[in-house]
Parts: sequence; structure tokens; C-alpha cells
Amino acid sequence: MPMNDALHAAGPQAAWIGQLWWFTLWLCVAVFVALMAALAWALWRARRPAGAMPQPAPPSAGAERLARRWVSAAVLLSSLLLMGLLAASVLTDQRLATLSLDGALQIRVTAHQWWWEVEYEDPRPDRVFRTANEIVIPVGRSVVITLLADDVIHSFWVPNLHGKKDMIPGRTATIQLRADRAGTYVGRCAEYCGLQHAFMAYDVVALPADRFAAWQEHQLTPAPEPAGAAARRGHELFLTGSCMLCHAVQGTSANGRRAPDLTHFASRASIGAGQIANTSQALAQWIEDPQKLKPGVNMPAHLLPREDLAALVEYLETLR
Ligand code: CUA
Repeated sequence: MPMNDALHAAGPQAAWIGQLWWFTLWLCVAVFVALMAALAWALWRARRPAGAMPQPAPPSAGAERLARRWVSAAVLLSSLLLMGLLAASVLTDQRLATLSLDGALQIRVTAHQWWWEVEYEDPRPDRVFRTANEIVIPVGRSVVITLLADDVIHSFWVPNLHGKKDMIPGRTATIQLRADRAGTYVGRCAEYCGLQHAFMAYDVVALPADRFAAWQEHQLTPAPEPAGAAARRGHELFLTGSCMLCHAVQGTSANGRRAPDLTHFASRASIGAGQIANTSQALAQWIEDPQKLKPGVNMPAHLLPREDLAALVEYLETLR
């Protein structure tokens, strides 16, 4: 079950932010309770017999001195508590920077309106590969994610793993995190970026090391030659139509970079950055009229004859 919950930390970064959150919450609760108690006490002391007109008596010099002392003590305590919150915040920030980055996995994530381009970096260029809207990471290993934005400001946020980080066009930011539990964690764009901002999701899938290694090797393999007449027809349509102008499929001549890399498209869970589940029916609808499923998306409609659409879907389904 995918999770999207900052209070269920799956790694040290989110756990530290979670501790700060609880500390702030309990401190504020304590201040609120103390304030309400002081108010109740003041009201109780100021009570008058029913029906009697209040006759304010001039306070004695002693009472005034006492009141002034109470006010000074309250101001001092408030300042100390605020300083405490500030110190806790600075301490959390320092702890966030202590994640060991030895042997960290390097990933580049570029935000586009409205999808996520994910590139796995490697010193060997033949081991670099791209995927989209899904970030697969190994459990227990640090990950350094370089954050970029292609068009407008977006924000990277996987609540179970870390806080938010802005992605600003022309600037490079990084975020370091580690997942200590296997699972699927939902990521969201956390900065308003246009029409489909609310539907710009991605999954961070944390896999045990061996399964991650197998996934990585599989991602490095180029797309297989399609078998079967329909899939071959779909392949031909893909390469002769407009698909290849924007999309890439490794192992073919399609190497567009404007839209998600489709080399292992069929293994991904959703279409349109978390918009709909990746089924053949949804894929056919998406190709025919993406605007209907995700208004504003850059992909144009493709009004193909029925059998061509079916062939194209059949081909894309072979991209496991
Ligand atoms: Cu991207 Cu909001």
C-alpha cells in the first residue's frame, strides 16, 4: 500500500523531521494548557457575588509589584521557549546533513510540467539510463538526488523520506535520503506549477539490495525486438509517426527527450505521472486523447484508425 505520511518515517531524515514536529507540537500544547489554566485562575479570582455591581478597588502597591513580576516571568519564559524551538530547528538541520554518503547512489530528477524525468548516473556512460515518474532505490543505501527544473518552479517531496526541496529552473539543488524499510512511498510536487500541479505524483520504490540490482540491470537492457504481427506494426507506427519526436526507446532510433523515456514503460505502475493505472485500455485512451485524462498536458491527441491504435498499444505493452 503506497504511503504518503510524514509521521511514518521510513528513513533517518524523515525521522529527525518527525521528532522536531512532535517536539514543537508538545511544547505548543504545554504552552496552550498553561495559558488556559492562567486564564481560568484569573477569572476565578475576579469573580463577584451575583447581582453585585463590580466596584474596582485600587490595587495596592504590593499587588502591582507582584503582577509586574508575573508579566516579566511570562515574557522571559516565552522567549526561552522560542529560543528552544529555534535551537531544536538548527539541531535538526545539522542532523539532516550528517547522513553518510559513502557509496551513495546518484540520481538526477528533472521536474517538467507535469511529470518527472529520472536519470540514474554512473561514471560509465553505458550504464546511465532514464525512466519516469518512478524512482527505484535500494533499502539501506544513501541516495543523492540532484534536483533540476525544466520550465517553472516545482518542489520535490516524499513525506515518508524527507522534507520538501524546491526545484528552480537554472539552479541545481540536491537532496540526500535513505530508506530503511522496503516499500512504495508516494512523492508529490509541493509547489504550485500550473494546471496539473495537484496531479504531478511519483512513486519512490525502495527495494532490498539484490532486487534493486536486478531492477537496475533490467533497466539497462534495450527494448526487445517485438514479436507478433500487431506488435511489429505498432513498432513501425511508433518510429514513423510522431511518437519518436518526443519519446525515446533504447535499442530503436527513437531518442526524443521532451517526454518520458518509454524503454521499460510497461513495467511502470501509472500513466501520466500517477494519473491513471497503466492498463491497455487506459493506454489506448491516453494515446487517443491525453487532454481528456490530464487537461493541459503537452502530449497531443492521436486519432488513429482502431487497428493502428490497438497495434501501438500492443507494441508499448512489450516494453517491460
Ligand atoms: Cu510541479 Cu507543482
